[in-house]
Amino acid sequence: MAMIAAKCPDIRVTVTDPNAQRIAAWNSDTLPIYEPGLEEVVLSARGRNLFFSTDVRGAIREADIIFVSVGTPTKTYGVGAGRAADLKYIEAAARMIAEVAEGPKIIVEKSTIPVRTASAMLTILRSNSKGGTFQVLSNPEFLAEGTAVEDLEDPDRVLIGGEQTPEGLEAIEKVVSIYARWVPREKILTTNLWSSELSKLVANAFLAQRISSINSISALCEVTGADVDEVGRAIGLDSRIGPKFLKASVGFGGSCFQKDILNLSYLCQHFGLPEVASYWESVVKINDWQKSRFSGRIVRDLFNTVSGKHIAILGFAFKKDTNDTRETAAIAVCRDLLAEGARVVVYDPQVPESQIRSDVLGSQENPNLVISKSALEACKEAHGVAVLTEWDEFKDLDYQKIYDGMLKPAFLFDGRNILPHAKLKQIGFRLFAIGKHV
Ligand SMILES: NC(=O)c1ccc[n+]([C@@H]2O[C@H](COP(=O)([O-])OP(=O)(O)OC[C@H]3O[C@@H](n4cnc5c(N)ncnc54)[C@H](O)[C@@H]3O)[C@@H](O)[C@H]2O)c1
Repeated sequence: MAMIAAKCPDIRVTVTDPNAQRIAAWNSDTLPIYEPGLEEVVLSARGRNLFFSTDVRGAIREADIIFVSVGTPTKTYGVGAGRAADLKYIEAAARMIAEVAEGPKIIVEKSTIPVRTASAMLTILRSNSKGGTFQVLSNPEFLAEGTAVEDLEDPDRVLIGGEQTPEGLEAIEKVVSIYARWVPREKILTTNLWSSELSKLVANAFLAQRISSINSISALCEVTGADVDEVGRAIGLDSRIGPKFLKASVGFGGSCFQKDILNLSYLCQHFGLPEVASYWESVVKINDWQKSRFSGRIVRDLFNTVSGKHIAILGFAFKKDTNDTRETAAIAVCRDLLAEGARVVVYDPQVPESQIRSDVLGSQENPNLVISKSALEACKEAHGVAVLTEWDEFKDLDYQKIYDGMLKPAFLFDGRNILPHAKLKQIGFRLFAIGKHV
């Protein structure tokens, strides 16, 4: 929404959320999300045509177009628990819009939702209307955290789906004309509602599948002497495969991949396609396996016990250039090591201590989880160090100094394959890197 406001000074954009703390943060000097370039975009429009407000009803009343961007987490209760998307926020938003709207409104599904959600939204909107008339469009968001501003500036494509009726097509054109201010028309795809809704789930499923595919091969590389980076490069040069998303790691995280695949798999089950459901579910299974394989490797290398040992964790965010920790592989690795009795000392350049604590421990306390203010401090007197996020600063730390401060033998576990392995070996580290024979 900030990007739309920045690109279209004549369009008034109001971002509204009942969470007063979040809105206050968006109106303050410290934005609630760390994302390169975002501050500049927000500051270029805030107070001019970009506003942040807790008055959800007021914003609905005034708007011609409403982008519904509420959370759609995995359901934790009832039918479909652990797999289906929880649509309670979507439904509540639709009911509120129906209650407040007086004139014609275009409702845009920006959240990632199961295919055919628009049909439920339309039913709720049209059967509760107090005089408002509605078109529902689907405009899924393909930005990636960490590169969100770049992705929005120059997207691979913008996808807009709508009802294939004269009113539906007119609504599509209105939203197309907003993006067309800065996105070339040929990159703006229009489809029917269901194709657009489904494409978002499928895009995330394909992306996550590539990661699980290369991660599964990383295990084979380790036992055969093949190098997963060399295999990735060799297959990525095949134009049918392409070079991106072929880096092995400790496992994917983030708020979307796991939730969207589980949701896709649940949909397949629901529509009587159990084979398709279990195919996609295996992508998540491999991811979980990769995470526990990594923590298992740490325990094994440290002479089969980490009880009472100090393990430093460098990086907690699910990837670099974000402070988002949702579903980060670091949570599983820290929990596994704590369960083995280790003292786990975590350092991340952007994630606050309180976030790390609540992610790993929930409301529990555990004196074995320690948060550190620098990489060097975290590694002091450690038996082992694990790199879990590919933050640039970890590539060129003073590893000699780290080595000197560690207990010997000093173990280093590279969960992202970003470290200077040859140099580390020379220093004397015992090294493990995913998918490599080092
Ligand atoms: N985070 C991403 O990178 C990303 C990328 C693409 C798509 N998505 C999708 O976008 C959606 C939102 O993701 P998120 O990461 O921003 O989730 P989030 O949980 O961080 O934010 C959702 C916000 O919606 C607010 N909200 C709930 N009900 C509301 C209502 N009736 N009116 C106004 N605000 C309301 C909540 O208070 C919360 O602040 C999800 O469906 C997600 O799958 C996210």
